[in-house]
This record gives sequence, C-alpha cells and structure tokens, in this order.
Amino acid sequence: SAAEKGGYDTFMEKEIHEQPHAVADTLLGRTKDDGELVLDELRISEERLRDIDRITVVACGTAAYAGTVAKYAIEHWTRIPVEVSLAHEFRYCDPIVDERTLVVSISQSGETMDTLMAVKHATELGALTLSICNTHGSTIPRESDAVLYTHAGPEIAVASTKAFLAQITACYVLGLYLAQLRGETYADDAKSVMTELRDMPDKVEELLGRMDRVVEMARFMADSRAILFLGRNVGFPVALEGALKLKELAYIHAEGFAAGELKHGPIALIEPGQPVFVVVPGPDTPHELHKKVVSNIQEIRARGARTIVIAHDGDEDVVPFASEVIRIPQCSPMLAPLLAVVPLQVFALHLASAKGLDVDQPRNLAKSVTVE
Ligand code: G6P
Repeated sequence: SAAEKGGYDTFMEKEIHEQPHAVADTLLGRTKDDGELVLDELRISEERLRDIDRITVVACGTAAYAGTVAKYAIEHWTRIPVEVSLAHEFRYCDPIVDERTLVVSISQSGETMDTLMAVKHATELGALTLSICNTHGSTIPRESDAVLYTHAGPEIAVASTKAFLAQITACYVLGLYLAQLRGETYADDAKSVMTELRDMPDKVEELLGRMDRVVEMARFMADSRAILFLGRNVGFPVALEGALKLKELAYIHAEGFAAGELKHGPIALIEPGQPVFVVVPGPDTPHELHKKVVSNIQEIRARGARTIVIAHDGDEDVVPFASEVIRIPQCSPMLAPLLAVVPLQVFALHLASAKGLDVDQPRNLAKSVTVE
C-alpha cells in the first residue's frame, strides 16, 4: 500500500531515501566520542582477532561489491591481505583457508544458500567466521562465530540499495576496529576516519536532495541499448554496482569496468553517442588516480562517447570532457562509495520506471536466493 511505501511510489525509492539512516544506525553505539571503536558484540577474543593473517570475503551480487570496497579499505588500514570470493565459487575452488583466516560473509537476508554453504565450508576448514548481515536471527549469522549486524531496517525491493550502504559502513567499522586492535601505524588515522564516517549520513542526505537532473537524464535515456560504467580503486565496485542495478531493474545491457582496463579492450566498444558513466576519484586520491581517470574521460570523449561524470564538488578538471557532471559532496577517497553509488541507484530506478517496469519486483529475480 501507499502507506507502507511512506508516500513514495515504490519501496526502492523509499529505501534509497532511507540510506542516511541506514549508515547512521549502522555506526550507532559502536564508537566513543573520540572515534575509538567499541565492538563488544563480536563474540571473538581480541587475541584471536589479532592473530588473523588473512581475510576472505564471501558474498553474492551487491553484497560482493560491498566486499570489494572492503578489500581496498581493510587492506589499506590494516595491511591484512583481503580476498573477495563469490560465495558459489569459494566452495569449489579449493580455497586456501586455515584457523588464522577470518572469513567474512556479507548478506542482507542472511539466507542466501550459496553464501551459507561457503560459511559452512569455511568452518569445516577451521576458519574463523564473521557474518555482516541485515536480518536478525537469520541462518548465516547463526552459523557464524560472530556477527556484525547492519541496521538498514527491512529491505523490501528486490534490488538492494540501503543494505549496500550499510554493508559498506559495517566493513569500514570492521577494518578500523582491526586496525585499532592490532595497533597498526594506522590506528590514529582510524579515529579520524571514524569521525569523518559519522558525517557521511548528512552528506548522503544532501546528495539525495540534488537528484533532479539524474531523474531527468534517466527519462530521456530510457531507450539506451547499452550503458557502460568506469571506476577505479573503490570506484571500481561502484561502477560494477551501477551496471548491476541497470541490468536488474531496466533490463539494459550494462557493464562495469576498471578504468585502467579501458585501453586493454573495452575502448573498442566506444562509438559516437555511447553513454558512459565515469566514477571519478577525489583529487586527493593517491597515485594520481584522479588525473588518470580524467584522461580516460578525455580519451572516450574524443571517440564520441556521451560522458556522464560523477565528480566531487569543486573538481573542475572533469568539466572540459564531460557531457554531464553529477556532483557529489567532498569526502576522503576511501569513503566515496557511500556517495558515488547513490546517483547510479537513482538513475537505474527512474530509467526502469520510465520504461514502465516494476522496479520492486524485476522479472526473474528473487530477493533472497535460497537454493544453490
Ligand atoms: C539476490 C538479490 C540481490 C542480492 C543477492 C545477495 O540475487 O537479487 O539483490 O544482492 O541476492 O543477497 P543477500 O541477501 O545475500 O545479500
């Protein structure tokens, strides 16, 4: 009913607007005022956590993209190697896992069979298992040694939105907690990242207020045949998620690529008028990645692509090569996925609506896939 949808046309739109709360509630009660993390809820001893020498994330779909953001962040903050394995691949790839491996499963529902079986397999191999999950009392947390709940609230739309932001937030919390616990040289930095993380709900809210142009674009691009997405570093999983949303909701052929991979193949797809979304890293991203992505935009624009650029406020370098610029608030590079993905969700939602499709119940998909 309309009341259940809180005045929005669809659950998905409602859930997109609940994202500031999803992030805030996932942070709630997990830090002291100075940014020190308190995670007493984890039922794993600090000794055991200090001892882990490898992390493997297992997940499917959108949750696996949250895991890829986690890989960049956790490796950067803790220097623990992190691998991301699609849960259905993990079990059958003879995974290298032992008692010093932390296997982190990410699942909104806590019932995805592929992910559950991966967790069981990890347990058999002696790994420590931690579930990042949005559903209290579901199967995956019950089968895990520890759980870090995301507090996004119930997600009804099949395509995940607020759970994704909450999963990324929980992964940051986990990474910063591990850094704090292990006394890495990054521990001080961890407190300042936490402080910044607490500002993210307001930035997501501000961004949601700026989506008029994105909605308009979605409407006039409704008959696009294919749309490409480029990103780099933490922007890479954002590009993959942008493409997945469009496939799921609008049944449009969409692909996400690592921007550096462009010249190794995907650039052959560029022809006049081809829409390409580019997630641009902030100007202070290390290793000149900002400059490198700007030159990617220049290259595809020169070949006639319609470049739709997602860039931070104040980034003027992108302007000469952008057909459209979608602005997101400034933030430090590692936290940018919480913002950059929002316009892509809104775009997919409104493009699908413009095509007259059921965005809450896309064809052939289930909210939770409980068979292997
Ligand atoms: C299904 C849904 C996706 C979701 C994936 C993982 O395929 O359609 O939206 O990302 O399952 O679900 P989970 O509940 O494990 O996060």
